[in-house]
Amino acid sequence: MTTAKRREIDVLLSEERTFDPPPGFRDRAHVVGEQPYLTAADNREGYWESWARELHWFQPWERVLDWQPPFARWFVGGKLNAAYNCLDRHLAAGRAEKRALVWEGEPGDVRTYTYRELHAEVSRFANALKGLGVMKGDRVAIYLPMIPEAAIAMLACARIGAPHSVVFGGFSPQSLRDRIEDASTKVLITADGGYRRGGIVPLKANADAAVDGVDIVEHVVVVRRHPDGEVLGGATMGERDHWYHELVAEADAECPAEPMDSEDLLYILYTYGTTGKPKGIVHTTGGYMTQVLATTRWVFDLRDEDIYWCTADVGWVTGHSYIVYGPLADGATQLMYEGAPDWPDRGRFWTLCEKYGVTILYTAPTAIRAFMKWGAEWPAKHDLSSLRLLGTVGEPINPEAWMWYREKIGGDRCPIVDTWWQTETGAIMITPLPGAIATKPGSATLPFPGTDATILDSEGNEAESGLLAITSPWPAMLRGIYGDEERYRTTYWSKWEGAYFTGDAARRDEDGYYWISGRVDDVLNVAGHRIGTAEVESALVTHPVVAEAAVVGRQDELKGQAIAAFVSVVDGAPVSEDLVKELRDHVAKEIGAIAKPADVIFTADLPKTRSGKIMRRLLRDIAEGRALGDTTTLADPAVVEQLKKQYEGSEG
Ligand code: WTA
Repeated sequence: MTTAKRREIDVLLSEERTFDPPPGFRDRAHVVGEQPYLTAADNREGYWESWARELHWFQPWERVLDWQPPFARWFVGGKLNAAYNCLDRHLAAGRAEKRALVWEGEPGDVRTYTYRELHAEVSRFANALKGLGVMKGDRVAIYLPMIPEAAIAMLACARIGAPHSVVFGGFSPQSLRDRIEDASTKVLITADGGYRRGGIVPLKANADAAVDGVDIVEHVVVVRRHPDGEVLGGATMGERDHWYHELVAEADAECPAEPMDSEDLLYILYTYGTTGKPKGIVHTTGGYMTQVLATTRWVFDLRDEDIYWCTADVGWVTGHSYIVYGPLADGATQLMYEGAPDWPDRGRFWTLCEKYGVTILYTAPTAIRAFMKWGAEWPAKHDLSSLRLLGTVGEPINPEAWMWYREKIGGDRCPIVDTWWQTETGAIMITPLPGAIATKPGSATLPFPGTDATILDSEGNEAESGLLAITSPWPAMLRGIYGDEERYRTTYWSKWEGAYFTGDAARRDEDGYYWISGRVDDVLNVAGHRIGTAEVESALVTHPVVAEAAVVGRQDELKGQAIAAFVSVVDGAPVSEDLVKELRDHVAKEIGAIAKPADVIFTADLPKTRSGKIMRRLLRDIAEGRALGDTTTLADPAVVEQLKKQYEGSEG
């Protein structure tokens, strides 16, 4: 740790910093002032209507909004097709030869699709699905790696009006089966295998295990991942299996887009709630497409010449809204990458940014903290001067990581958009507009024009800090939980009258900026004091040796809860009892003695879901010595077992 570095951290902690939109960026930005905020506040429905007009509708809507809490219908009576808006509309607008997707596989194979090519491929596969008997309204499961066919399959479903249910390729057969059964999906689309960190994920074998004995699945379509047609992962084909390439080879490249009602289902996406059983979040067509288009254009300040890269997986909502539907609806050129960020080395992301001239990069704080841990020498080896905007999503970003991202990746010149939203919100809700809003490291800043957020206490009174609530219906909002209306009402709409409960805690500062501290289920109560786990983590990572930290509450007879901190240190740093003391004191210094962790457990890696979220529930179980729950969504289940052993050892 250099003195310069220490000073940097001190400066960061001792004063609140604000970054104005850089003048060069502002000059060309879509939004530079507060006007859209005022326009939207003045006439919210009219404002969203003007966004809806940017889409192609087969039939116009009769009413903008029909709100019968907690059920919203947007653009009532309108008819449109999501795939038509992502493809056909651009062919007519002179973008046929523009690159839509530039894809690179982990082994380095490259494929490019222009809008014309993507349109043809989607149409062919849509016809192939029809040929398998898929009709409007039938559900289709998609279990694919990050290959172009993932986007193609989603768009093909949308084209014929078959709602898709994408299941992240890292999920276990059992998780896949649960989702297939819950949504009664008729067809499953998978691949023989996918590349991950040099190895092969045997998707077809997993899929076989998932649908074994499940009769509702009539057909399984299998993409051959290998560029030369080699079969990966020991995939074998059974009676209901079809090779994707054989189906599309025979299919017609003309397939009319089905006119869908604005409120027809576009997709179901499963996510975890506070209880174990995943819930199928339901999204419909018109409102969703309207808000993903609006947010893509304004939040990322997207322009025709941009090379946009969102590093999420299509298995998560970020991949749905900001790889497939938003950027394609806005006619973007985007990069898609199949594999791990540290394969074949820790510079892969920066190699890709340089090679393709990426201008907009949208990634997760957890990835940024990994990059910090690996060291700034990796990005420093590459020319990243094409970048002009950076984004983050998925969890609160600690100011130190924000600053590192700004300096080491953005070369101190790129605005950062910290975007808050959820699977349920469908689209970005709280975010800076990069040409208009000054940013503060760690704050998602303000609600997007046309969305209404506030902070409420549990009684429903406005508060400076408390629970983040959305106070009016928004176009991309979830329309329900698949097959469980009661759960929809109780989970989101029963806390207060007419306001949506996000599950997140937040505070608002004197500028009205939102600071989201994390899920309320992560809020601790230690001796009657409320402490956000994110706050303690943020304090821990300001210590020079800490790379990443996860904090959970464990039961404590005296205090109600005590804090257990799981810490991974920067490469090469020695760990010792002294360091435990130092870290506890460090947190006490940063926040106060009440936030001092009772336990500090060192670990090489934190257990994370495949999407990079720390599995707090599991850490809580470990901290409290309970049996382990389902670990199939973990990035590396071995990490947990090791943690558990270590923890038990340290107590004994
Ligand atoms: C958290 C991901 C702070 C939050 C799009 C939310 C964030 C949950 C941010 C939703 C952010 C997401 N700052 N927290 N910018 N973005 N979150 O459904 O707790 O996977 O409720 O959607 O992630 O996660 P989900």
